[in-house]
Amino acid sequence: MKKITVEVCACNRCIMMGAMDIMESVESLKKLKTQLRLNTQVELIMDKKICGDLGDEVSPVVSINGDMMTRANTQSVMEQIIKIQRK
Ligand code: FES
Repeated sequence: MKKITVEVCACNRCIMMGAMDIMESVESLKKLKTQLRLNTQVELIMDKKICGDLGDEVSPVVSINGDMMTRANTQSVMEQIIKIQRK
């Protein structure tokens, strides 16, 4: 089974810029994956300060299997998860 680890930055700025929406989408995907028959384990981690001081303009920051995404949104995160899942 594939494992996809999604880390969402939980700093105030990332929360303000949409981190909670991203987190909710990933949670929904976790619930749907049985129905979609995705043979993938999705782990969601909310953590502060995952950006490594890239600055304020990068929020929200998401890391998927270690690959950092800046100015992430629900769509770009879902696309990346599906891309990894299909590999
Ligand atoms: S801590 Fe959230 S962007 Fe740096």
